[in-house]
Amino acid sequence: MGKTLNIVPASTLDYRRLAEANLPRFMFDYIDGGANDERTLLANVEDYGRVLLKQRVLRDVSSIDTQSTLAGERVAMPLALAPVGMAGLFSRRGEALGARAATASGVPFTLSTVGICSLSEVREAAGKPFWFQLYMVRDRVAVQRLLEAALEQGVTTLVFTVDLPVAGMRHRDTRNGMLENSLRGKLGKAWQLGTRPGWLWNVGVKGKPHTFANIADMVSDSTDLGAYREWLDTQFDTSVTWKDIEWLRTIWPGYLIIKGIQEVQDARCAADVGANGLVVSNHGGRQLDSVASSISKLRPIVEAVGDRMEILVDGGVRSGLDVFKALALGANGVLIGRPWVWAAAGGGEAGLCALLNTFKRELEVAMILTGTNRISDISPELIDKIGWN
Ligand SMILES: Cc1cc2nc3c(=O)[nH]c(=O)nc-3n(C[C@H](O)[C@H](O)[C@H](O)COP(=O)(O)O)c2cc1C
Repeated sequence: MGKTLNIVPASTLDYRRLAEANLPRFMFDYIDGGANDERTLLANVEDYGRVLLKQRVLRDVSSIDTQSTLAGERVAMPLALAPVGMAGLFSRRGEALGARAATASGVPFTLSTVGICSLSEVREAAGKPFWFQLYMVRDRVAVQRLLEAALEQGVTTLVFTVDLPVAGMRHRDTRNGMLENSLRGKLGKAWQLGTRPGWLWNVGVKGKPHTFANIADMVSDSTDLGAYREWLDTQFDTSVTWKDIEWLRTIWPGYLIIKGIQEVQDARCAADVGANGLVVSNHGGRQLDSVASSISKLRPIVEAVGDRMEILVDGGVRSGLDVFKALALGANGVLIGRPWVWAAAGGGEAGLCALLNTFKRELEVAMILTGTNRISDISPELIDKIGWN
């Protein structure tokens, strides 16, 4: 049976523990895990610990303000919720929940292509325009249809993910039979589901339907994870090049952010095709294991194209202090993936709002203790040492 944890959650990792107690093992591992030996996943988190800041004193920090702009939108702090596929399986109507919490906290929400909730459900929950993430699928008519549907629902910002032409080798999922449709796989998952009656009732029963709402008409059986895997395998297009992004630029009139850039050469291509922004990202360590942490890749990209486009970074951001470090290294903002899903799975909407409030408070405290009043004042000057140089 799932253990009940008696902790007052204060940090991202506390919500991770609560999520672990609430979720069936294969789902927790799907969120928590990374590719292969999970080296990049670990580096993403650990490298934030290797950025040391300068403490400054007596600088009148009586009027600090964490507000900023992201994708042309005023935000309470420069952070957005990253696209997370199947979030509606980890908490009840997870994408709608995330959108409500994001709006209440003054930050953007990104709906994944493979979200459980539809664009219209998220629009209603957000009560305002939100961001939509898309992968390039082989069927370009389907791409156009999805973009039209997104525009209809008032999506202003398209986050186009380019680091998943194929899914990474995620060994935890294989061990857990996550996407396996054999009898053994099904029995294993059924047993794990049985150990989490709270999840079964709250999400399994009350959170239905569990279809991939935005691609339901493209998947043979949208209630079946195996069919989803099959769709991924057949539709994810390994022949995509920057030419396709040029085409995308011509059909998407809104703000375009390319997600999944690690190298300066690719960042230049993203700027050249007219993208408005990019996310320095290795997909949270879920794709090519042994690439460097995203935070360690940020600075050269900012130096190369930071004057031409907005630069976001994700992977390993676990606190408002990490947000501060990313900004000091030149990012305009960050995305958080696992933290928001853990908070939603561990503490529901209230938990996610509380975590976002903690991020904001941590950012404020970091600003006060480094003597900065405005987000635009956060600069490399405030960095004492960087462990990877
Ligand atoms: C469970 C899970 C599902 C994800 N699904 C998507 C997705 O559908 N589309 C996408 O672009 N990125 C996806 N990502 C990657 C996130 O958007 C983000 O890049 C990553 O989680 C950032 O790292 P962090 O989890 O350390 O914050 C997913 C990540 C996780 C953990």
